[in-house]
Amino acid sequence: MIDDILRIKRAGGRLSDDQIASFVRGVVEGTVSRPQAAAWLGFVFIRGLDDGETVALTREMTNSGTRLSWPGIEGPFVDKHSTGGVGDKVSLVLAPLWAELGWKVPMISGRGLGHTGGTLDKLEAIPGYRCDLDDAALHATLRDVGCFISGQTGELAPSDRVLYALRNETQTVECIPLIVASILSKKLAEGLDRLVLDVKVGSGAFMKTFADAKTLAEAMVRVGNGYGVHTTANLTDMEQPLGIAAGNVNEVVESIETLKGGGPADLRALTLALAGHPDAERVLDSGAAYARFERMVHAQGGSLAALPHAPRELVVLAEETGFITRCDALAVGRAAFVLGAGRLRAEDAVDPRVGVLVHKKVGDRVERGEPLATLQTADRAVERARAEVAGAFTIGQVAAPRPLVLARIEATP
Ligand code: URA
Repeated sequence: MIDDILRIKRAGGRLSDDQIASFVRGVVEGTVSRPQAAAWLGFVFIRGLDDGETVALTREMTNSGTRLSWPGIEGPFVDKHSTGGVGDKVSLVLAPLWAELGWKVPMISGRGLGHTGGTLDKLEAIPGYRCDLDDAALHATLRDVGCFISGQTGELAPSDRVLYALRNETQTVECIPLIVASILSKKLAEGLDRLVLDVKVGSGAFMKTFADAKTLAEAMVRVGNGYGVHTTANLTDMEQPLGIAAGNVNEVVESIETLKGGGPADLRALTLALAGHPDAERVLDSGAAYARFERMVHAQGGSLAALPHAPRELVVLAEETGFITRCDALAVGRAAFVLGAGRLRAEDAVDPRVGVLVHKKVGDRVERGEPLATLQTADRAVERARAEVAGAFTIGQVAAPRPLVLARIEATP
């Protein structure tokens, strides 16, 4: 069977549902070898998958492991997924906010790679916080608190773990049907009623252009809704970092400020846009979402009493007066990465204390000698990080703030 499957895709043909099911089963059971799976990924990268094949691949990957369910807990069950960026800590605010609004949020998140941060790394900056809850603990936390943010258990979409690792090794990550199946297989296994997607666009994002991000968002919305999960997508700006902080513990601190009704305007605005609930703003301002966050952190073993902090800070100053016309998310992300906040390989450790604070955003006025950014360092690669951050900013003479939410994609009938 695998020989036929490879020959058909190599020639650009269409695979049947049975052939896709057999391939995914073979990947998990080991009857499809790693070289065969790698060849298949390469053929798909070049030849593509149509919508029907993508739906079949997503379904088989979702069914390749445990499907979570929440007996005895009243929904609706809702989650959000971001395609990743720099300073994107929305999940830390949105999960407890939704829980406070009465929705249940079984959020399975991931770790950062390269210049993009990961929700689990940020939360693990909180002393004691555990991201490895087993099924019983997930269920109890969702029942008692209304939300959890934890890591992928070994049994959730195991085919994705194998295929994603191979994609990383074979330069086949940037392939829309494979991304759709990878992201949605994990989310659809969570037992959701609703899924809100945040597809980032720009220098710090996976998708650099609006057109590519829109294609990905539309495909995910089609496949998610095809499964009966109400799925919407927002295309949002990642040309500049979100909020002020990029790192790990500094993003927790900024999330807490936002959960208490403060925080940077763009983080607050995006959280409320993704929340999509008429009472979200009132609840955020009341401080109740922060109390819910505290309960989630305690339920997952964490303590907010003594957050770690970086041993040293270095301020980067503006060399001219004018308006910020660019604050490059990729350069800021690279700075946080070289300081130690990110990882190159999945098995690398991150330093929770280090990162970058960006004091000026696109459209802001700045005077020569004013702080542009602060590096929070542990004395590693400080000069490289300083050069990255200094190069991230462009100062011009025109104030032109960037729009944050670029488009919203709903299911088409
Ligand atoms: N994130 C995922 O989980 N999978 C992809 O393929 C890309 C981003």
